[in-house]
Amino acid sequence: MVIAIDGPAGAGKSTVARAVAQELGFTYLDSGAMYRSVALAALERGQHPAEVAPALRIELGARVLLDGRDVTEAIRTPEVTEAASVAAAQPAVREAMVAEQRRLMSHGDWVAEGRDIGTVVAPQAEVKVFLTASPEARARRRAAELGADTATVLAEQALRDERDTGREHSPLQAAPDAHTVDTTDLTLPEVVAKIVALVPARP
Ligand code: CDP
Repeated sequence: MVIAIDGPAGAGKSTVARAVAQELGFTYLDSGAMYRSVALAALERGQHPAEVAPALRIELGARVLLDGRDVTEAIRTPEVTEAASVAAAQPAVREAMVAEQRRLMSHGDWVAEGRDIGTVVAPQAEVKVFLTASPEARARRRAAELGADTATVLAEQALRDERDTGREHSPLQAAPDAHTVDTTDLTLPEVVAKIVALVPARP
C-alpha cells in the first residue's frame, strides 16, 4: 500500500509522514532528500544536476547516504535547499529520481512524501493527502527548526513555492483525488489521526 503526502515546504510533511509511517508500521520515503542529494553532489562537483543525477547512489533510512557517505546534515543547509528546488525543475533529474522512487515502492507498504507523489510517482496510491498551512505558519515552523529569522524564511519560501508550483514538469499541485489537510491550527497528533483515519482497513 502507498500513502502519498504532498505539499509545500513547511506544511509539516516530513514530521507527519514519519509519524504516520511509524503508527502504521510502513516505511517512510523522503523524496525531497533525493533532490537535495542531487543538488549537493552537483554543487560539490561543479557539474550540472542533470549530469550527476543518473549515476548517484542515494540510500534513504535513518541517515541519508550519498555514494556511501553520510550527508544527512549536509543536505539541509540553505544553499542546498535552494539548489534542490532548481535541480528539481529539470526533467532529466526528475526522471532519474522518479524511476528510483517507483522501484523502491514496487514492494511493501510506504508513506512517501514530496511534491508529485500522488500526481506522478504513485498515481495509484491508495491514500493521497495534500498537506497545506498558511505561508506564515509554514515559515514560522521552518524558522524555529533552523533557528533562523521568520521574515527571511518567509521570503525564501515564497521564491521556492513559486518555483515548485510554476515549473513546467511535475509542478506542485494536489491530485484531483487528494484529501487536503490544512495544518495551520492542528497539532501533530491531530494531523496524524486524520490521515490514519483515511487508510482503508485490510481484509
Ligand atoms: O522539506 P522541504 O519541503 O523544505 O523540502 P524537501 O521536501 O526536502 O524538497 C526539497 C526540494 O526538492 C523542493 O523545493 C522541491 O523543489 C523538490 N522536490 C520535488 O520537486 N519533488 C519531490 N517529490 C520532492 C521534492
